[in-house]
Amino acid sequence: MTYFQYQNKELYAEQVPLQTLAEQFGTPCYVYSKAALTDAYQTFSKAFKETAHQICYAVKANSNIAVLQLLAQLGAGFDVVSEGELKRVLKAGGDPTKVVFSGIGKTESEINFGLSSHVGCFNIESEAELIRIAHIATTRQHIAPISFRVNPDVNPKTHPYIATGLKENKFGIPITQAIDLYKQAHQHPYLHIKGIACHIGSQLLELKPIEAAISHLLELHDQLNTLNIPIDHIDVGGGLGVRYRDEHPPSIEAYVETLISLLKQRQLCICLEPGRAIAANAGLLLTRADYLKPTSDKNFLIIDAAMNDLIRPSLYQAWQPILPCKEPQTQASQEWDIVGPVCETGDFLGKARSLNVKQGDLLAIMSAGAYGFTMSSNYNSRNRAAEVMVDQDKTYLIRARESFDDQIRLETLLPEQAII
Ligand code: LLP
Repeated sequence: MTYFQYQNKELYAEQVPLQTLAEQFGTPCYVYSKAALTDAYQTFSKAFKETAHQICYAVKANSNIAVLQLLAQLGAGFDVVSEGELKRVLKAGGDPTKVVFSGIGKTESEINFGLSSHVGCFNIESEAELIRIAHIATTRQHIAPISFRVNPDVNPKTHPYIATGLKENKFGIPITQAIDLYKQAHQHPYLHIKGIACHIGSQLLELKPIEAAISHLLELHDQLNTLNIPIDHIDVGGGLGVRYRDEHPPSIEAYVETLISLLKQRQLCICLEPGRAIAANAGLLLTRADYLKPTSDKNFLIIDAAMNDLIRPSLYQAWQPILPCKEPQTQASQEWDIVGPVCETGDFLGKARSLNVKQGDLLAIMSAGAYGFTMSSNYNSRNRAAEVMVDQDKTYLIRARESFDDQIRLETLLPEQAII
């Protein structure tokens, strides 16, 4: 099932023409399909059949509270990396006991908030963090549920900025040191060991690195068994890739099947933290062509969305499809570099795209549901985009477009005596 498709030569989100959304909410505007989010989540959950599992959606991929609310209603747990993300989950009605709290720099206030909120598990990433959590738990006399996120040193074969499971990366505890920390934690009256966690990287297109990581986790599990340190779950992290262009990521079903086949003997709950695989293809960024600027060297198409709205092309040289909202009658005769108005040469959304386009046309930057809005900023003092959820023929504004007043709400002018 496709959630964004042409009908009578017009691009639709479910049953709503994007043209209608642009008229109603303006551009740039993120558009999400409720059915696409639901189907992606349910594809994961159905693939597990009877196997004990917990899907902890990675909030960083798309943290709009309406998106979290939908996933919470479908039964999702959540992977959070900050107090802000945890507060979003709670606001959206998520179950805190199904939350894993990841991240290498949890502050004291975040740990306290996580404990007060009764999160299901803290995924600890260093000895220093273990000491901090143990200290806080002891002071509060509140048992902290914990896992250690280990770094298995496997090459996830993805963009270097989103590889996390190599020993040179800042994430996780070297797997060889983990056993000592498990022993320490096991002795501690205010720590309860829940499991083993890892996350080797994002936009993974092969199962092999995941299999390699899991085999390391299983060796560690064997060692824990020898020491009589019991665990309840193995958390394999997120990372399953999606198709942006011509990639062939494993299907969700194949991925889950691999997890089950590697882990089912162990009688442990399988935890996972998918973000992109749930949200990326459930969203697009709707934008308008503002100026055509052909030059002797190149044709630039200046649109009203920019790197501050969607930074993936600038940051990772990511390629995302860019489609005209009106299907063209004729084949494209020209190539365009599709750029935003931001004052940086790196501000592009797509390069050398064949498009039949004229000023004022609407375009859709596809596969923008994950790491789109969440990575957006106010750079160049641009208001952040609106977000809309489509449910069949209904539309819901789930985040209003920012105003200038929103932007400067926390700023103050210097008092008179400070001005010369
Ligand atoms: N769990 C942990 C601990 C993570 O660090 C991440 C992503 C995930 C789960 C979810 O990974 P996913 O299933 O979405 O691949 N901004 C980049 C992606 C950064 C991913 C960071 N960590 C991008 O736009 O490609």
